[in-house]
Amino acid sequence: MDFKRVSYLVGCFVFGLVGLFTGVKGEDVLHKSKEYSAIYNFGDSNSDTGTFSAAFTMVYPPNGESFPGNLPTRNCDGRLIIDFVTEELKLPYLSAYLDSIGSNYNYGANFAAGGSSIRQTNFSPISFGLQISQFTHFKSRTRASYNQSSHSSYRLPKSMDFSNALYTIDIGQNDLSFGFMTSDPQSVISTIPDILSQFSLGLQQLYNEGARLFWIHNTGPIGCLPRTSMKSKPRPEDLDYTGCRKIENEIAQEFNKQLKDIVFETRKELPTAKFTYVDVYSAKYELIKNARNQGFVNPKKFCCGTTNVVHIDCGKKKIKNGKEEYYKCKHPSKYINWDGVHYSEAANRWLALLILNGSFSDPPVPIGMVGN
Ligand SMILES: *[C@@H]1O[C@H](CO)[C@@H](O)[C@H](O)[C@H]1NC(C)=O
Ligand SMILES: *[C@@H]1O[C@H](CO)[C@@H](O)[C@H](O)[C@H]1NC(C)=O
Repeated sequence: MDFKRVSYLVGCFVFGLVGLFTGVKGEDVLHKSKEYSAIYNFGDSNSDTGTFSAAFTMVYPPNGESFPGNLPTRNCDGRLIIDFVTEELKLPYLSAYLDSIGSNYNYGANFAAGGSSIRQTNFSPISFGLQISQFTHFKSRTRASYNQSSHSSYRLPKSMDFSNALYTIDIGQNDLSFGFMTSDPQSVISTIPDILSQFSLGLQQLYNEGARLFWIHNTGPIGCLPRTSMKSKPRPEDLDYTGCRKIENEIAQEFNKQLKDIVFETRKELPTAKFTYVDVYSAKYELIKNARNQGFVNPKKFCCGTTNVVHIDCGKKKIKNGKEEYYKCKHPSKYINWDGVHYSEAANRWLALLILNGSFSDPPVPIGMVGN
């Protein structure tokens, strides 16, 4: 095959066919860019795919009822945003680092844990800092294992190139919830700079471990969650026109404003890394605001468990016609909220569709293109 001749001919055509060739080339670039070596995720129950259930106590059905294999390892009826992220990038769902049964870390690992916060709170012993030490351990054990034998490494990352992985982070909601439960709004606001300086330290540590590509979610409109962590019951004037509690949302927005500043500063300090800041708050608020015309029921309602008169947590049963059954709605896909705190799979799908193409990001790049 006269390769030189062919490439010469192609070369001659290239300039004439620029439009056509950029089309082809564009697709190629898009495909390549989606091939991160792995995803390493950090966060709380919004993206926990099995840590809490492995480390502490089972997450009970009907959690996981619409997940393949009905796995009750997530606080959701089905998939979380992080599951839609892995689907979008054509990678397998992430195994929790702490789950020793059936886990596979070929394309990443999940360090997120239900109840986690940036600063240590009594919701969970697993803070953001601890998740990062777990990652550091994971990385050094992986390296050592590769050095020792190829046989023991079949469930370990396929690539030792940790700088070509995507680092996704969604944490901070529990720092605020913990504040609302234990103090007054003004005190919560005063803790934000310290929370975020620890967050910034975490980014720096991940960078020192070789992380270069970051996808960072801000915190959601916590005041829109049907179950609140506020001590006092809101009065009508405490709510906005969508029924969300104003003070909690204002504090979440203040947190996000300062988070964005921290991300932008870190960008300047670490110019060889790429930081994408994703405004999940606005995406979630958009969904809640448009609940009805998007086919959802009242966003203040939730599917699993109840706080009406009696208080029944998701996963607890009720007696109906002499039979025990889970306290749960008939059509979870009609609900934005699953259990009063966590979003349903239907909502997560809707949100993923909105945020993964970059339309709520700074810079506005799709999730497959962060490395470009
Ligand atoms: C693995 O091997 C490489 C090269 O042989 C060496 O530089 C590195 O220190 C080793 N790492 C560990 C964790 O043993
Ligand atoms: C991203 O997806 C949403 C939802 O499908 C769509 O409305 C929006 O126009 C898209 N934006 C871009 C930049 O592709």
